[in-house]
Amino acid sequence: GIAWVNGEFSSLQEARVPFLDRGYFFGDGVYEAVKVRDGKLFALQEHLERFERSMKEIRITPPKTTAELTALVLASVEKAGLPNAMVYLQVTRGIGPRMHAFLPEGEPMVTLFVAPMTSVEEKVRKAGVSCVTVPDERWAHPHIKTLNLLPNVLAKQAAVEQGAYEAILVLGTEPGGGLITEASSSNVAAVIRGKVVTPPLNGRILPGVSRAIMLETAREAGIEVEEREITLEELRSAEEIILTSTGCEVLGVGRLDDVTVGEGGAGPMTERLYEIFMAGWE
Ligand code: PDD
Repeated sequence: GIAWVNGEFSSLQEARVPFLDRGYFFGDGVYEAVKVRDGKLFALQEHLERFERSMKEIRITPPKTTAELTALVLASVEKAGLPNAMVYLQVTRGIGPRMHAFLPEGEPMVTLFVAPMTSVEEKVRKAGVSCVTVPDERWAHPHIKTLNLLPNVLAKQAAVEQGAYEAILVLGTEPGGGLITEASSSNVAAVIRGKVVTPPLNGRILPGVSRAIMLETAREAGIEVEEREITLEELRSAEEIILTSTGCEVLGVGRLDDVTVGEGGAGPMTERLYEIFMAGWE
């Protein structure tokens, strides 16, 4: 893989960032992850639009225009020469003495890397992955793609320690089990009474690029979709459960908290949604 730090390319191993970067002390920055498959970038524009929205939300003045970022990403992918990879793009509030408040002369710091990334194996995809549920303990603005990922890290680790692929986050503990928001690094949807249901963009979830594209392609294909809250109880009795993200694309969940989901394996709707989603690469 390769890295780009402040105008210079290097290998991933040799890349160095300044110790006083606010990303390091405060997680004071935002990021994007974009997938390259068979040499092609997926939904770069959508990712860059969200990147700009994230910067705006945390009051970082974009240090580069969308056209400049596009050119940088394309040049990096070309230079890396990896057919299957992830492009990681990050901007922090920059370098300076460790003070909580913004530094008057702070300049945003842009970093990027391109590293190999493989897709979920066909047999795993068919079998469906397992998920566990954990409380959603994140801050009040998870719709911003910030570097502050500690709750997500702890949630994913809890999943891994239970032999699961992902942790599904549950907000609140109301009777009926609270509301599903998303997963530690993916969005969640379910098939409930034949309909594809997914939590709405109400500020409690990241507006996933894959989520948006799955919903759009589903609607175009005449599949009924609904954006509304899902309770944990509903999720437990869903016909199918689906994860979407840049990494996993559209992925079926075969087990939830050690209980088989629906008929088990990736269900027919998940497979259909995966196929029409993947047609978007062409
Ligand atoms: N994660 N929700 C969260 C909390 C995420 O971190 C991600 C992506 C998603 C899915 O978004 P998208 O479809 O735009 O990738 C949902 C990336 C892949 C990551 O942190 O590596």
